[in-house]
Amino acid sequence: MSELNRIALKIISSGKGILAADESNGTMTKRLESVNVKSSEENRLKFRSILFTSKNMMDCIGGVILYDETIRQTFEGKTIPEIITQTGAIPGIKVDTGAKKLAKSENEKITEGLDGLRERLKNYYNLGARFTKWRAVYTISDQFPSKLAVETNAHALARYSALVQEAGMVPIVEPEVLMDGKHSIEDCFNKTSEVIKKCFDALIFQKIDLKGVILKPNMILPGSNSNKKYSTEEIANLTLKCLMNSVPSEVPGIAFLSGGQTETEATKNLDTINKLNKSKFIMTYSYGRALQQSALKYWSKNTNDVSGTQKIFNHRAKMCSMAALGKWTEQIEKA
Ligand code: G3H
Repeated sequence: MSELNRIALKIISSGKGILAADESNGTMTKRLESVNVKSSEENRLKFRSILFTSKNMMDCIGGVILYDETIRQTFEGKTIPEIITQTGAIPGIKVDTGAKKLAKSENEKITEGLDGLRERLKNYYNLGARFTKWRAVYTISDQFPSKLAVETNAHALARYSALVQEAGMVPIVEPEVLMDGKHSIEDCFNKTSEVIKKCFDALIFQKIDLKGVILKPNMILPGSNSNKKYSTEEIANLTLKCLMNSVPSEVPGIAFLSGGQTETEATKNLDTINKLNKSKFIMTYSYGRALQQSALKYWSKNTNDVSGTQKIFNHRAKMCSMAALGKWTEQIEKA
């Protein structure tokens, strides 16, 4: 087993998943201001360190994705990567510098961050990171995502992955087809399948070791403004069909983003995916909002109540972990 494969499996095996705590300062400011907390460096550290020192980090979280600010911070005399490592989880780092307007396109996005990446990766490795994240975003409409957006983002994801593996780390490849819009679930299925296939074509062309990659896709869902409702089984079956048809078998696992689903929706959908999963892919979570939302809401009103906030995060992490094992139920959710 290669070292990259070992790292990937350690992050996603045995009912563990990923805590995506890599919101950029811009995004974190939106999240904190939505609950009336000032977005200072101190407050960002205060909230995140509460999560990282929670009891269920140990059993439920295999990896934590950090932002550049956080990987350099210390809490009670220890660096944040040291605190995460002590829980048994692996520290990771977001390395893209954001999605910007794609030139020659009608307002689609290309993710940037390749310039100087080799040097930044060395620095992150020395700070303790052993995996990384790069997120490409695609919108669905009649003409989107365009071939231009699909091909250019796939190329960037593959160039990023090559540099990350060269630096001895596991790349999380995140092609996120956004939920925004009125599109049907079939459109989401078709466009997501196309996007993921193109990503793997590019990864294979650029000689990426697929055993040392984690895919972070969206689930197959109707647009958030579509009126149609689907059962959890329909969502899970389409998600599994899409991934079976587009992900090479060497890839050890898939860690979904939550993408605007509620905490319970994201948990229930993942659980059903695992109950129906007949493939050898590990299917787990790499959630941001679906792991943090309730804890953040509670903390915003009780910023000194560490144990109360941790209790909420511990429950969410446990529910996600049960879903990653296909053992979640409505009863344990309410317990
Ligand atoms: O890149 C997206 C995040 O890592 C996952 O966030 O679960 O809130 O969509 P989310």
